[in-house]
Amino acid sequence: MAIGTILVSTGSYVPEHRLTNQMLTEMVDTSDEWIIQRTGIRERRIAVHQTTAELALGAAQRALEDADIAPQQLDLIVACTATPDSYTPSIACRVQAGLQAERAFAFDLSAACSGFVYATDVVDSYFRAGKAKTALVVCAETLSRIIDYTDRTTCCLFGDGAGAAVYRWSDTEDGILHTVMGADGKRADALFAEALPSENPLERGADAVSSERFLKMDGKEVFRFSTRTVPEAIDQVLDGSGMTIDEIDWVVPHQANLRIIDVICRRYGLRKEQVYVNLDRYGNTSSASIPICLDEMRRNGLLQAGQTIILVGFGGGLTYGAVLMRM
Ligand code: UT7
Repeated sequence: MAIGTILVSTGSYVPEHRLTNQMLTEMVDTSDEWIIQRTGIRERRIAVHQTTAELALGAAQRALEDADIAPQQLDLIVACTATPDSYTPSIACRVQAGLQAERAFAFDLSAACSGFVYATDVVDSYFRAGKAKTALVVCAETLSRIIDYTDRTTCCLFGDGAGAAVYRWSDTEDGILHTVMGADGKRADALFAEALPSENPLERGADAVSSERFLKMDGKEVFRFSTRTVPEAIDQVLDGSGMTIDEIDWVVPHQANLRIIDVICRRYGLRKEQVYVNLDRYGNTSSASIPICLDEMRRNGLLQAGQTIILVGFGGGLTYGAVLMRM
């Protein structure tokens, strides 16, 4: 029997407050029709009173309950977020404390919307190196904290939420078959959110401190990047695992724009039922989007043992990546 990385369970947690397209029309010059036609999004969830760490812990607890694994069995926790509550500690350490997963080493990984795919590859690599056997990946975002709700070009797109997965190094012929990751730092400005002001606080007066550090995006540039790199990543994971698209049961793409997903469907001749979509209900939740999809799919009985699945992410960095696994 071979040995590999298997997905044991998933969990997700989204805030209750809904921000509908209709509500956005009262905030900026937009319309329900424009948002649906150009993006496919109808509503998104907003964490009005919750931190990123709280969303992360909610998703992590559900993933562990689903796995029937005690937190103390975790060796590793990798958290992904573009919207951490603090520079230190990491979200992963907050989750470790909340779960009482004392044995786990824990760190955050920054790869924006590609976070889940990158973190899955990191976990698989730790497993292969013999440094861990049970790991939690948790992706959580409170993007509403960095969205400019006077900018119609970005405020319609993003939402808050968290998704998680437990992976295990196990005897199996299946599990993760191939991974691909890439980045193009030259295009960094196409999706940008500032962290600390670049000026040194000793040199600027207190008045100069700006609290307005909103996400800025060149949507067209990111669109072009994703429609080029997503097929490249899919081709590479197929090649790497010696499979063809006809052997794939599901593609789970990062949920950014229905038009990007349509491009993937057309390019590979995929049926709509093979590509999981929930962005109409959550918008773009960055790193959390793929694990939220996986959790919905598992809970709705859509994922069956033996099925093959491609996860494909893209976004800030700019970054992209894909994972091919057999359930
Ligand atoms: O997570 C990964 C990162 N993000 C992405 O993957 C996003 C990728 N990009 C996109 O999804 C699309 O580029 C957007 C949805 C962001 C924009 O769609 P688009 O078809 O590229 O629209 P556009 O930027 O070309 O804008 C077309 C028009 C413009 O008006 P003019 O200049 O033609 O008069 C915009 O000002 O639509 C206008 N517009 C809007 N109108 C109504 C832009 N946003 C809105 C809006 N409501 N919310």
